[in-house]
Amino acid sequence: MPGVAIVGTQWGDEGKGKITDLLAADASAIVRFQGGNNAGHTIVHDGETYKFHLIPSGILHEDKLCVIGNGVVIDPGVLLDEIEGLRKVGVSPANLRISSNAHLIMPYHVLLDTADELKLGKLSIGTTRRGIGPAYADKALRLGVRVQDLLDEKILRKKIMTALESKQQALRELSVRRRKLRKEGEPESDDVPDDRLDLHTLTEEYLAYGHRLEPYITDTARLCWTELDAGRTVIFEGAQAALLDLDHGTYPFVTSSNPIAGAACAGAGVGPTDIEQVWGVVKAYSTRVGSGPFPTEIEDEAGRHMSEKGHEFGTTTGRPRRCGWLDLVALRYAIRLNGTSALAMTKLDVLAGLDTIKVAVRYRSKEGAVLDEFPYHQTILHGVTPEYDEFPGFGDEVSDARRPADLPPEARNYIDFVSETVGVPVALVGVGPGRDQVIWMDGSR
Ligand code: GDP
Ligand code: IMO
Ligand code: MG
Repeated sequence: MPGVAIVGTQWGDEGKGKITDLLAADASAIVRFQGGNNAGHTIVHDGETYKFHLIPSGILHEDKLCVIGNGVVIDPGVLLDEIEGLRKVGVSPANLRISSNAHLIMPYHVLLDTADELKLGKLSIGTTRRGIGPAYADKALRLGVRVQDLLDEKILRKKIMTALESKQQALRELSVRRRKLRKEGEPESDDVPDDRLDLHTLTEEYLAYGHRLEPYITDTARLCWTELDAGRTVIFEGAQAALLDLDHGTYPFVTSSNPIAGAACAGAGVGPTDIEQVWGVVKAYSTRVGSGPFPTEIEDEAGRHMSEKGHEFGTTTGRPRRCGWLDLVALRYAIRLNGTSALAMTKLDVLAGLDTIKVAVRYRSKEGAVLDEFPYHQTILHGVTPEYDEFPGFGDEVSDARRPADLPPEARNYIDFVSETVGVPVALVGVGPGRDQVIWMDGSR
């Protein structure tokens, strides 16, 4: 099984990091292929909690190559902090590799992300304000600065100069706004000092990053080919999720990359035939951070139960995640988009203790039409009411279960129903954050 993609099927934070860390045991390389430090992937191992934003979730396995592919946008300061953080806890970054073709997040991207959100006001997307959208925009505009540019001072200076030119207007507006806020005694909403935005300071700062990152920079596509051609398993670790996909998600309330499995090819430099398995990670309920439609969102007692028991606060921004029931209409859509071969259902343990568990099986439109499929028109999606099937809760804690037979029949029934309705096996079930807190549903491990 050389190529394995692991992707989110909802709105992110499904537990992709945990599943990647788990499946990495059988792989030789783990590759991030899109997104940036908007991602927050948590791994709990031997009582330690690790949070990764850019570093692939295979890094705790000492013998695995961990690759940041060309499709990722990299904030070098954040990456270096993450590398240092690993060193401090005794994890070696020696097997990290960074694509020379990956694009860099620059301080002006972070500023513009914040400025754009402020400008949108009530219509804001609720981005992570990490500069993701502006960095991908520059990539598409061919104004991006790439990792390889860090290694050539002349080119770096020229590229920053060109990129800065087109931002002058927006940045001027921003400094006017900043001065105004300052005058009014308001707290400043962006934390990047103005003086980082001149050509000289930026070039020096990024050259320094380049010196520190140089040992990791390489042709990562070629690394993937070597592993795949030798028949070794390469995991492509998705960030974000299908419903945040730039093309297929709930636009404009999406991220600026394609988190679906197909994007692993472009974002890592491999072909579609290299990917033989696609694991879709799905939470046993739903969460979403930021704005945008969320048909099964609830704000009642059950929602509070999910939020509290599931610790539903963003890994990256600390914002509370919106909670709701599992949505099988949206899940079927995500499964098809990704060509999903197996599901890993996480956080089943969080549902324990609820009297009743609901699952959305179809939507009803404002006009009363029954919708079995995810509607292609966003206006319809905004107006739908989900229709639920109800299941008896499983009162018992399930966090100690390690085999299917350890689960109460109500929990098994819930898993079977999901699997049968979406037509994809639930191969793995998570019953806690720890690496060992999983159940292989075929009883094989
Ligand atoms: P990712 O972005 O998809 O990697 O997910 P996050 O790491 O942002 O959020 C998932 C959270 O759930 C993390 O805090 C994980 O430690 C935790 N988690 C993962 N799987 C399980 C599970 O099966 N049960 C519980 N209770 N927590 C889990
Ligand atoms: P992981 O990999 C959850 C959301 C933001 C916002 C929208 C756009 O941990 O699952 P962006 O900063 O990407 O321009 O924000 O996407 N978002 C995430 N939500 N998990 C993530 O990553 C996310 N990355 C971005 O909240 O609504
Ligand atoms: Mg996350």
